[in-house]
Amino acid sequence: MAHELEFPDSFLWGGAIAANQVEGAWREGGKGPSVSDVFLSGAHGSPRLASLDFSLDGRYPSRDATRFYDNYADDIALFAEMGYSVLRLSIAWTRIFPRGDEETPNEAGLQFYDRVFAELRKHGIRPIVTISHNELPLGLAQKFDGWGDRRMIDRYLALCEVLFERYRDDVTYWIPFNEINNLTLPLTVFMHGGIIPEGMTSFGDGTDDRDLRFQAMHHVLVAAARAVELGRRVNPDFRFGSMTCHITLYPLTPNPADVLLAQQDDALRNNFCADVQLQGEYPYYQVTWMQREGIVLDITDEDRRVLRENTHDFYAFSYYMSVCASADDEVAQTSGNIMGGARNPYLDESEWAWQIDPVGLRYTLNKVYDRYRVPIMITENGLGATDELVDGRVHDDYRISYLREHIAQMRLAIDDGVELIAYTPWAAIDIISVSTGEMRKRYGFVYVDVDDDGNGTYARYRKDSFDWYRRVIETRGRDLGVSTGEPAQGVVS
Ligand code: BG6
Repeated sequence: MAHELEFPDSFLWGGAIAANQVEGAWREGGKGPSVSDVFLSGAHGSPRLASLDFSLDGRYPSRDATRFYDNYADDIALFAEMGYSVLRLSIAWTRIFPRGDEETPNEAGLQFYDRVFAELRKHGIRPIVTISHNELPLGLAQKFDGWGDRRMIDRYLALCEVLFERYRDDVTYWIPFNEINNLTLPLTVFMHGGIIPEGMTSFGDGTDDRDLRFQAMHHVLVAAARAVELGRRVNPDFRFGSMTCHITLYPLTPNPADVLLAQQDDALRNNFCADVQLQGEYPYYQVTWMQREGIVLDITDEDRRVLRENTHDFYAFSYYMSVCASADDEVAQTSGNIMGGARNPYLDESEWAWQIDPVGLRYTLNKVYDRYRVPIMITENGLGATDELVDGRVHDDYRISYLREHIAQMRLAIDDGVELIAYTPWAAIDIISVSTGEMRKRYGFVYVDVDDDGNGTYARYRKDSFDWYRRVIETRGRDLGVSTGEPAQGVVS
């Protein structure tokens, strides 16, 4: 019998941001430089240059980002207006430990987040906190070569201890690392891992030291498990999420060689880290792959204990796209966030050539729930697109359409029996793009008036998607049509 598909009343609706992509104020209140601060603006097909000593002339977009640091109260009021019950945000590590190796935390940095959490509380919005989201102190990257060095674990735990103690009553949901699986590929070895690859001149280049990268990956996994151990001592009600950048993989054809390749890539890219974090040990396929590749890691008995005893509570993932795996090198390729792949002839793609695949979200939700049987959060999902501000409005029907189709598939997945508990699309407000450093690649429900050169008033405007999403939340996902709510005013600050 047909029945109405709906989201449970307890479902957490919200949006997501990351400190380095929205806050700006890069040296305010004693903040130190982070690995994200060294990159200049780029564009699709034109890489972001890196300048570790800031000697290159040009625009460093994270210096101002979209000025959330100054506007947080008004921005949070806008999130509340949409009806958010949660906001996923990250803490800039370099506001708390500016170089990374200080003995005592920077009080001014903590006070900023005190204010942010107080504002969220005022509006009844619960934070989901990412502890590390491309914000590793540049000082630690230079001192230790980032996560390649085991001593990073203690520096990270010093940060966790301060946050857990200070925010024990403000935060329940913690995500120790954004997209923890990113280090399985070289692209973000510096931004995510703090390892400075030899010859790095821009985002994603330089010589990859694969052994070091996987050792760093191991240190990150151990650090996350130790954070869980520490956090549960501070407050047993804390809930910890393993977060994967899930790039869903299909075989391009039924050729068994494609099917096998898709299975292998899916294991190594999408499953490995979450398997460790939710099942408590390295999965067999990863152990075998490392043996075959001659990668020998320093893994201690204590590491194994920590991983085994401190598995995470929920599975979180970012979902933007899917790609295909093909054993044929000649087939057409498409790009993606941490990796691209073979082009799927059944899918459209965004302006930045990321393939749009709402049904793949339902497929992925069923896949990961079947694998882990823990609650799931979609902590990023959205469309990077060029928006045009006309008379104080942005008519982003393309973004509404992207989100509508994905939310419809979430509803179907819940009906399939998947325990999906939260949705925080990317992004609550316009942000700086990580891969290109552009403003032009916009994701937000709220438009920020600043262009790729940093020109603009930084005023905020509600997009059409803002009204549409407010209606979705208001109706608990029953009304996915075009907004029928009151038309909101355009400019808000
Ligand atoms: C995710 C990151 O991988 O992709 C975000 O967690 C990022 O920080 C998002 O913004 C979209 O990627 P991009 O390169 O378009 O900003």
